[in-house]
Amino acid sequence: MRAKLYREHKYVSFALSELERLIAKTDFTNDAAIEHVKDEWQTIKEMLKGHAHHEEQNIHALLEKKGSTVHHEAHDDHAYQEEVLENLQYRLSAVKTSTDRIEAGYQFYLAYRKFVGDNLLHLHEEETKLLPELQKLCTDDELRAIEYPTYNLMTVEEMVEMVQVLFPQMNFSDKSAFLIDIKLAQPKKFQQLLDKATQFLSTEEIERFLNAQKSLLEMTCVEK
Ligand SMILES: [Fe+2]
Ligand SMILES: [Fe+2]
Repeated sequence: MRAKLYREHKYVSFALSELERLIAKTDFTNDAAIEHVKDEWQTIKEMLKGHAHHEEQNIHALLEKKGSTVHHEAHDDHAYQEEVLENLQYRLSAVKTSTDRIEAGYQFYLAYRKFVGDNLLHLHEEETKLLPELQKLCTDDELRAIEYPTYNLMTVEEMVEMVQVLFPQMNFSDKSAFLIDIKLAQPKKFQQLLDKATQFLSTEEIERFLNAQKSLLEMTCVEK
C-alpha cells in the first residue's frame, strides 16, 4: 500500500457541502441568519486558503523539485480560487444593504454552489493526476515527510482537535493511516494521543487499530 496524500479532502468536501445546505436554507431578510452564514463562511474561507497554501508550499514545491509540471493546473486553480473567494466575500457582504435581499442572497447561493462544483473538480484533479505522479516520483518516506513538520509543531491537544474534525468524515483505513503517520513522525506524542483515543475513535475502532497496528506498521515499512 503506497503512502497517500489528500485524505483530508473528504473533510473539505463535507464542510463545503454543509455550508451550501446552510446557505440554501437561509432567510436573507433575517440579520441574525446572515451573521450566522458569515461566521461559517469565514471559517470555510480560512480553511480553504490554508489548505491551498499548504499544497503550494509542500506538495507543488516537491513536484517542482522533481521536474514535474503536473501541478500547473492545480496551481492555476488555487490562484482562481483566491479571486472567487474575494468575489463571494463581496457578494455576501453586500446582501444586507441590498434593495432586494432575497435576490442578492439567492445570487450569493448560486455563486457559492458553482464554487463548490469547481472545487470538487479541483479535488478530483489533485487525487487523480497529482497523487499518482507524486507516488511515481517520490518514495513513501518523502510523501510522509510532507506532514512531518506539521506534526512536529502540533501539541497533542491540537492533534486531538484535528482528528476530531477529520475523522467523522473518514473510514477506518484513513483514520489508521493518519495515526500511523503521526506515530512515525512523533512516537511520544502518538502515545499520548492514543491515551485519548476514546475522544476520536469508537471502542471497536480502538480495538481494531490496536490489533492492526503491528501489521499496519510492517506494511508501511516493508513497502516503502
Ligand atoms: Fe488544492
Ligand atoms: Fe486539496
